[in-house]
Amino acid sequence: MSHPVDSITGILHPAVKSYLAQLGQQADTSGGSPMDPSQAQLHQRLESHALERGFPLIGSASGRWLELLTRLIDGRRVFELGSGFGYSAFWFARGVGPTGQVIGSEKDTWELESFDRLWGDHPLRQRVEIHNQGAFEALAATTGQFDLIFVDIAKRDYPAALQAAVPRLRRGGLLLADNVLWGGKTASTPSARDESGTADLRLFNEQIHSDPRLQSLILPAGDGLSVSMKLVD
Ligand SMILES: C[S@@+](CC[C@H](N)C(=O)[O-])C[C@H]1O[C@@H](n2cnc3c(N)ncnc32)[C@H](O)[C@@H]1O
Repeated sequence: MSHPVDSITGILHPAVKSYLAQLGQQADTSGGSPMDPSQAQLHQRLESHALERGFPLIGSASGRWLELLTRLIDGRRVFELGSGFGYSAFWFARGVGPTGQVIGSEKDTWELESFDRLWGDHPLRQRVEIHNQGAFEALAATTGQFDLIFVDIAKRDYPAALQAAVPRLRRGGLLLADNVLWGGKTASTPSARDESGTADLRLFNEQIHSDPRLQSLILPAGDGLSVSMKLVD
């Protein structure tokens, strides 16, 4: 299922969604972490590119959560499983601040080419590196712990991503995952014909809520953003 630029419906009433979007835009211009003009232009370029291609971005409603959650834990080192051309990385780059680092992974070379072209020499890019590699291999190639790990790959791989990511988080670090409400589909038992990953997402949602290492909840933002804090070393 493709969800270009915040086009998800079915979770929030459209009027509520548009009210929240309006407040979010206000925060981007005059709130405590406003976008400077060059960031606003980069954000616009990324969104336009996604719209042209029907690319399934996390969208700005969840993007603002990525930034705020990163700031809440004073996150400086972030890993992304599934980066595309760096839209979610844009929000993390704002969240980690000038000394922070966002390490991403993307299997498709053409997404990395778009990343290069769209980001150019924007100053935020100094905080972001995206590896042209499978997400699991890219994570395994890193050393040390992360403050935050974000999962946004093929939905069938979410349960494996949980197992790979948790050991790599520091205590108090966050595991975030996008699309966990899947346009509302995870709220009902998938039919045998549903091969889009609904059953895997339901398994993932159950696992994060029953894992003794984690405290989890799901924010009904965008397509559903799960937030899990690691409680143990
Ligand atoms: C839903 S898109 C989201 C990208 C980005 N997080 C965003 O919000 O803009 C998921 C991306 O993950 C990539 N991807 C999917 N499975 C992957 C894997 N196992 N390893 C690396 N990249 C993967 C896809 O090619 C796609 O570009």
